[in-house]
Amino acid sequence: MTGPELAEAGRLLAAARRPVVFTGAGMSAESGVPTFRDAQTGLWQRYDPQELATPAAFRADPALVWGWYEARRHGVLRARPNPGHRAVAAIQARLPETVVITQNVDDLHERGGVPAPVRLHGSLFAPRCSACARPASLPSDLPPSADPPEPHDGPLDPPACGGCGAPVRPGVVWFGEALPSAALDAAVEAASGCDLLLTVGTSALVHPAAEIPLVAARLGAPVVQVNPVPTPLDAICAVNLRGPAGEMLPALVRAAWPDADAG
Ligand code: APR
Repeated sequence: MTGPELAEAGRLLAAARRPVVFTGAGMSAESGVPTFRDAQTGLWQRYDPQELATPAAFRADPALVWGWYEARRHGVLRARPNPGHRAVAAIQARLPETVVITQNVDDLHERGGVPAPVRLHGSLFAPRCSACARPASLPSDLPPSADPPEPHDGPLDPPACGGCGAPVRPGVVWFGEALPSAALDAAVEAASGCDLLLTVGTSALVHPAAEIPLVAARLGAPVVQVNPVPTPLDAICAVNLRGPAGEMLPALVRAAWPDADAG
């Protein structure tokens, strides 16, 4: 993609000093990690979130829920960061005050070179006790060097907490649960102080996370969106880059810094 939109977005990025990069499931789509709401492929097209992503669902059938998240985690273990993840790391390497805020529960930002993204919806790699919240270790898959495990499919009894014996739960934020307050505070603070917000691969339908781009826009920061399709954020964006993150983000880095290695 060339053209005025990319040139304008590149100009805004080159002028920024404290950008925020806000990402959703579309960021990892090209790595083979399904999004939630994309037609046919989205997880919520195939599974009922009320049956799998709520505290009540876990109480009702811990093995069904744990098994489903273990299948997703195995899928992520088999995935690789895409050029979009590496471009985000290249932005942070160039502008050290960049804050990366993600709704994703995969670890592809970290594997793509962003050491500590702000995680609004938790992680598939941080299980904890469902009763005493004691952090739990993950089932010992295989050492990182070996091929990731065969994807698990079907119900799987969750391990018991080493402290109180209660079932261990996935370390993700379920529907109806509050976001981790430290992460939400950090995200709001970063969005309030940024001089550019780049929103990538989110349908901006799930709140309060979807408020983050609005916070930046309300305080006068330009917002640039990367998404193949329109979203509710279109109207607040200075530029809408219509395309996949794995192509748009490296192109954006090159537009901002022609000499840069986009990762
Ligand atoms: N590059 C960029 N964007 C993409 C790509 C891609 N390759 N592929 C799809 N998209 C866009 C889609 O057009 C859609 O707008 O990514 C968006 C994904 O939207 P959702 O599936 O709704 O995911 P997200 O916005 O991250 O969902 C928010 O909802 O289910 C909960 O907790 C879950 O964190 C998740 C939250």
